[in-house]
Amino acid sequence: MKPDKRRKTIVGNWKMHTTAAEARHLAGGVVDGVGNSDPVTVILCPPFPYLALVGEILKGSRVALGAQNMYPEKEGAFTGEVSPTMLLDLGCRYVILGHSERRHKLGESDAFINQKVRFALACGLDIILCVGETLEQRKANQTEALLDRQLNLGLADVPGAALPHISIAYEPVWAIGTGKTATPEQAEETHQFIRHQLVKMFSMAAAERVRIQYGGSVKPENAAALLAQHDVDGALIGGASLNAGQFLAIVRAGISEPQTKRKSA
Ligand code: 13P
Repeated sequence: MKPDKRRKTIVGNWKMHTTAAEARHLAGGVVDGVGNSDPVTVILCPPFPYLALVGEILKGSRVALGAQNMYPEKEGAFTGEVSPTMLLDLGCRYVILGHSERRHKLGESDAFINQKVRFALACGLDIILCVGETLEQRKANQTEALLDRQLNLGLADVPGAALPHISIAYEPVWAIGTGKTATPEQAEETHQFIRHQLVKMFSMAAAERVRIQYGGSVKPENAAALLAQHDVDGALIGGASLNAGQFLAIVRAGISEPQTKRKSA
């Protein structure tokens, strides 16, 4: 049985997209279409400059605000950076950390990501920690070793008590923005592996409650099959989150999909 607390979570990561006017329109479309009593957590992560205006639109709705990154200090001489206290001040409840674009294009290390993870949690933000292998790593059968490393280093010195504030996003790098999606079976198998690692690092009871989202070319057409998997607890969406209709269709797929039973591992 899936624990009640593992609600499906659908997150829109707008990355470095939208103008202010587009952000307003997109957030408004999501709020208008999302409904009031859907049993799915919905989070929008706009670019930093639009957090305040999107936050105003989300106020009073059931859509939560998240950020795409932060710096692990409360304040100080860190030109160009944004602190967790600023994010909380703007009404953010969530922050995405360790996204593959930050790892691969901006050179973020596991140690730096771990610093952010611990600091964000200490400040009271919920985190979405992204992990995932490149195509070369998958072909070389290194996926599990890589995920093991990213989880162990990313969550180093994180107390088990913080787990309710942590979700993991499995985003295979080869599926991000490419139109290639992991099959539901590949996603399920990898999510089971991630959960198994969390059991080893924390405990069975704690790991069973961690939401593991899938990300990488999730679209309305493939969302239902992915979200039906036992260990796929939601989706982290890039491209399709820039269109309110597509994003809402994925949210609806999360609501209506009956969960499959876990196949014995
Ligand atoms: P796409 O949905 O555009 O593949 O992006 C996935 C992603 O990186 C979300 O964080």
